[in-house]
Amino acid sequence: MAILVTGGAGYIGSHTCVELIQAGYDIVVVDNLCNSHKEAIHRVSELTNQSFTTYHIDLMDRELLELVFAKHDIEAVIHFAGLKAVGESVERPMKYYRQNLYSTIVLCEVMEKFGVYQLIFSSSATVYGIPKQMPIDEDAPLGAINPYGRTKQMIEQMLQDLAHANPHWRISLLRYFNPVGAHESGRIGEDPGGVPNNLLPFIAQVAIGRRKEVAVFGNDYDTIDGTGVRDYIHVVDLALGHLKALSKLSESSNLQVYNLGTGRGYSVLEMIAAYEKASGRKIPYRIASRRPGDIGLCYANTAKANAELGWRTERGIDEMCRDSWRWQSMNPNGYKQEEVFAEQV
Ligand code: NAD
Ligand code: UFG
Repeated sequence: MAILVTGGAGYIGSHTCVELIQAGYDIVVVDNLCNSHKEAIHRVSELTNQSFTTYHIDLMDRELLELVFAKHDIEAVIHFAGLKAVGESVERPMKYYRQNLYSTIVLCEVMEKFGVYQLIFSSSATVYGIPKQMPIDEDAPLGAINPYGRTKQMIEQMLQDLAHANPHWRISLLRYFNPVGAHESGRIGEDPGGVPNNLLPFIAQVAIGRRKEVAVFGNDYDTIDGTGVRDYIHVVDLALGHLKALSKLSESSNLQVYNLGTGRGYSVLEMIAAYEKASGRKIPYRIASRRPGDIGLCYANTAKANAELGWRTERGIDEMCRDSWRWQSMNPNGYKQEEVFAEQV
């Protein structure tokens, strides 16, 4: 029996593949590499000393996906694949609605056809929109404020309807807060194409000298130092949350929702200071205006995941920055360096 990991070459997917293999699971990966590199898969294999099958296909290609299900004895699916850039989703909403919704529809239909009913879905704290209470618990009202977030909210709704209609389904909706950091080996990590949208990869690229300074988006929020506060979670803790969710799937009711965060927020300036400490480098920054659509404060109530999944984060801000820096300094150009090298040989 194998776990199918969609989007397994991506940032969170690759870290989860490592933890799955190390916990003894067989895995099969499907990824169209639209936002990732084959090299990530090679490194997962190298880190775990195990080979596994990876299909370079698009989830929307039903025929090819059916071949994957026909060939492997799949018991559960962890569905990471999807597009995730908020800004791009505002500019090209149909691309996001088509790709995120349709790939999930095809996946669920193929799963039903092959009698595979266990699914873990990558949702996001973005579904809460502008939260009215802090910390945010799973019962807080939803109200995503951009097309990316709305695709997550719509998929959650679709999966709830599916679970309601067919009691065979066992579905876990995992709402991630802000994943950061990298595997402690420094071999796999986050490799954003172009200018990073998110804070930590941007800070990392300033630290390595690829960018001049961090623009801090606003210092007039009602927070500890006026800058935005988020619940950053180490990607390995997040990956381990998937293993817990997987092991609980068959025991729980047929649809569950969990926040995966640490329950603690840090400001932009606190993150910059922690990264300076971890890297031993000065991180120049300037205060810029607020980013449209941003909220001041966002952190999770993690009580439900702690109690029901028996899961707790173990890595703090120092480990997040240390591992991000190790990855960034060992791979100043992300995965590209080795691919270029490989092509030259
Ligand atoms: P990522 O872009 O690194 O990984 C996604 C992977 O899916 C990529 O390897 C991409 O090539 C693949 N993919 C996309 N569309 C596909 C398709 N139609 N068919 C096959 N493969 C496809 O992103 P990530 O940061 O690892 O995020 C994983 C999931 O978690 C996404 O669904 C994302 O929306 C969600 N999420 C991410 C964050 C975050 O900050 N990173 C926060 C909350 C939720
Ligand atoms: N920030 C800066 N400068 C930057 C980038 C970010 O000051 O260059 C600030 C933001 O204003 C915010 C904080 O750093 O206060 C974190 O910003 P990110 O862009 O890293 O993260 P967000 O919380 O805005 O959003 C991310 C993902 C969303 C996801 C959400 C919750 O981009 O898709 O986390 O999981 F929904």
